[in-house]
Amino acid sequence: MKIIVVGTGFVGLPHAAVLAEAGHEVYAYDIDQNKIDAYRSGDRERIEEIVNEPGLVEAIEETKDRYLFFTSDLAPIIEGTDIVFMCLPTPPKRDGSTDLSYYTNAAHRLGELLAKRQDERRVVLVNKSTVPIGTARVLQKILEEHGVKNFGVASNPEFLAQGGAIEGSRRPDRVVVGADTEEDFDRLRRVYSQFVNHVRIRYLETTPETAESIKYVANTLLLTYISFWNGIGARLGEIYPNLRMEDLKIGVTSDSRISTWGSYVSNGAGGSCFGKDIQSLIYQLNRAGRSTDLLQAVYNINEYQKTYLIDRAVYEAGFNFNNKKVALLGLAFKKRTNDMRDSSALKAVEALLARGVSEIRAYDPLAMNEAQRTWFNPEKNHLFSRITYHESPREAIEGSDAVYISTDWEEFRGLATTIEKAAPPPYLIIDGRRMLPDYRQLVAKGYAYLAVGDVYLKPEAPAEKTGANGQERVPAAAEA
Ligand code: UDX
Repeated sequence: MKIIVVGTGFVGLPHAAVLAEAGHEVYAYDIDQNKIDAYRSGDRERIEEIVNEPGLVEAIEETKDRYLFFTSDLAPIIEGTDIVFMCLPTPPKRDGSTDLSYYTNAAHRLGELLAKRQDERRVVLVNKSTVPIGTARVLQKILEEHGVKNFGVASNPEFLAQGGAIEGSRRPDRVVVGADTEEDFDRLRRVYSQFVNHVRIRYLETTPETAESIKYVANTLLLTYISFWNGIGARLGEIYPNLRMEDLKIGVTSDSRISTWGSYVSNGAGGSCFGKDIQSLIYQLNRAGRSTDLLQAVYNINEYQKTYLIDRAVYEAGFNFNNKKVALLGLAFKKRTNDMRDSSALKAVEALLARGVSEIRAYDPLAMNEAQRTWFNPEKNHLFSRITYHESPREAIEGSDAVYISTDWEEFRGLATTIEKAAPPPYLIIDGRRMLPDYRQLVAKGYAYLAVGDVYLKPEAPAEKTGANGQERVPAAAEA
């Protein structure tokens, strides 16, 4: 198959590389010449600066210039194309609707070129990135407007999680293809021949509208699991000191009908998909006059959770953030990625700055460049100059008054020793991911500990050691 992948971000680049591995002739197209130059160079650092996925650089190396080609010019590659995968950004607008301008711009350009092609063979345009239900028809109309002949449109949503894009593309749980004609289904079967009739992979053929809906329903259901645990499990844990959260999880999820995924409490879910998709689905349902109470609650609980621990630190632990230095551990939206889109840490930074901290001492194993370059540029907001960047958790903690753990990086599990060495009590530990198995030892030594899904633990050390963090010393309401 001759395949064009339009858009080479988190979705398009891994998809192109894995299609090339399967032996197709793949042209990865992007409007951004810098990206194309980086991919062409094969240079690991340059590629990972744009898309950081395990196995991606190796997959590119393996296929580049034999099966996989990079270009920023569509015109010379259009002739003889069997399939075009649309992998373009579809960011949210303020009202929750989806900005389809990148998508429609690319569709118009493709329409112009496809209308002029010499060959008569059928071309199928396939939506891979998440687009509102009905977008396959939008694409169809655009191509018709341009007078394109002999084409089909299809929806083939991706279900990849960050950090697993290559593995997930090589061995997906399911492949969903929504198309209108047998000819187009057959075309997609040839693209995915290794997955058709596979014993462990569900290969589902349906209508484009169903395929588009599957993506939204799946993602909002996953976020519903997370918000269910954050909205109920976490609240119970905060009320009952003797409630063991980990046992609650085991007891509940031992029922084979109940998912273990999503059943841990956290400081909220981030990432490029969940927030955007739920807002878009709310918008799509509202526009059709349908009620969205459940989705709205799921969304609100998740957003609330992102700063809730900072509020609890004030109201329950009596901690006054004004003029304090806070170490912020973890900036990425989850472990093993440098992606900070919709990360809970962004909301934490906003909340900490609003509460008047004098310094946020940030550390993340992967996202430091991303943070400085993209998110916390002081030109955008002068308060961002209060963020300092550190080489290790220890360096970030030294000299701080409190630590906030925002991302579930495995290396944070060993933080108890680091905290003891770097920051003597009085000191407040805010644990958004329940990363410290040894927290009781710290409390016994005079540290204050506030974790998601747990009651606030006051320091157990003698009263004179209890300082800024202890309820005894600081009347919470006065401080707040
Ligand atoms: C998600 C979906 O999993 C994927 O199927 C879809 O295609 C895109 O969106 P991703 O954004 O990569 O993938 O992240 P995921 O691993 O699902 O985690 C999302 C967020 O939820 C992260 O912030 C994570 O830390 C958080 N999370 C996850 C929880 O807070 N609790 C959990 O139990 C699981």
